[in-house]
Amino acid sequence: MAEKVGFVTMGEASAGGEIPEIGIGMLGYAFMGKAHSNAYRKIPYIYWPPPAIPRLIRIAGRSGEKVAQAARRYGFQSHTTDWRDLLDDPAIQVFDNCGPNDQHVDSCIAAAEAGKHIICEKPLGRTAAEARRMLDAATRAGVKHATAFNYRFVPAIRLARDLIQQGRLGRIFHFRARYLQEWITDPAFPMVWRLDAATAGSGALGDLGSHIIDLGRFLVGEPTSVSALTTTFIPERKTEDGRTMKVEVDDAFEAIVRFENGAVGTLEASRFARGRKNANTFEINGEKGSIAFNMERLNELEVYLPEEGNGDVDGFRQVLVTEANHPYVNVWWPQGHIIGWEHTFVHQLHHFLGAVVNGTEVGPLCGTFEDGYRNAVICDAILESARAGRRVEIAY
Ligand SMILES: NC(=O)c1ccc[n+]([C@@H]2O[C@H](COP(=O)([O-])OP(=O)(O)OC[C@H]3O[C@@H](n4cnc5c(N)ncnc54)[C@H](O)[C@@H]3O)[C@@H](O)[C@H]2O)c1
Repeated sequence: MAEKVGFVTMGEASAGGEIPEIGIGMLGYAFMGKAHSNAYRKIPYIYWPPPAIPRLIRIAGRSGEKVAQAARRYGFQSHTTDWRDLLDDPAIQVFDNCGPNDQHVDSCIAAAEAGKHIICEKPLGRTAAEARRMLDAATRAGVKHATAFNYRFVPAIRLARDLIQQGRLGRIFHFRARYLQEWITDPAFPMVWRLDAATAGSGALGDLGSHIIDLGRFLVGEPTSVSALTTTFIPERKTEDGRTMKVEVDDAFEAIVRFENGAVGTLEASRFARGRKNANTFEINGEKGSIAFNMERLNELEVYLPEEGNGDVDGFRQVLVTEANHPYVNVWWPQGHIIGWEHTFVHQLHHFLGAVVNGTEVGPLCGTFEDGYRNAVICDAILESARAGRRVEIAY
């Protein structure tokens, strides 16, 4: 039976007894720093009782003045220009890494060694070797670890996974995923860290491709081999201070994937797709039906399940994934009162804090460092295939 919708349940939550607090230390205060801080602040009043009330203890960044502003803005008690200060602080139990890709490895390993639980933004490492060291450090330390593949926490994507796991699509034949943006098409767009190989590791691949690789693993299963090409459309860019630098990362990649369960798939990511703002899309075709998703219409899942009764109006249906019995929805608003991209971070961090406080598992619903590592192995295989011009086996 369907759960009661929010129209009748909004005031029902109640909490008896003590609710623990949990201290958060964060690295990075820009795009992801804002998204994660926003989520921590929402958790206690959206989920009541929460597993713990997050206390924003300290935030780290490079510039003292800017990080001081960020601390005021997001509600952190203090700030620092050295992330090591977060790890010495006994009030901090969770290290949340929202820094650029080159800031993940050393700080996460040090955080694990200091006994902090860690959530790190994707891609976990710039290479599989880096991600492996991070996984090993977190495993050795026995701390909880998560890689922030937040799209797993879109209700429509979780529903897609549930349908597949329940066998409602039957055997899976195809996974077709594209993640397209347009923001570096202009050759005058400056050299930013996402285009710098030393900082980012890879280009569209690690930035956008890592998300759809994760969705392939989350929804369909493990890939076994990949054949790919990458390209760099604009090989040089000017820095903001006028220097010319070589672009040594991929501007786009295309890959053909075989999965362990016999499914085949295509993956594509680009930041040169004019008109595509944040088009993270996939379609999955199985023997009993198909599903399709588009991030720009995040509350909807296109579903074609003819055996479940389309009668003489056979065709895809647009399911509005906002019912109280849909994943993650019941804590929000009544049916049809849609949620947004930022709420995926609320679901993700709520799940992670629950694992830390209650000793439950981070995976398989949330990405772990193991998922971050496997993702990096696939990214490396895509780069190797593109470089060598041959199919590459995936081995973890
Ligand atoms: N899950 C998602 O949907 C998603 C979206 C965007 C970015 N990301 C990932 O999040 C991470 C951060 O990306 P972003 O978009 O927030 O980047 P950003 O450039 O907006 O912010 C990076 C932050 O790190 C700080 N920083 C940079 N170098 C530093 C250093 N040496 N020491 C300390 N702080 C430093 C910057 O001051 C800034 O606050 C990246 O790994 C990126 O791939 C994930």
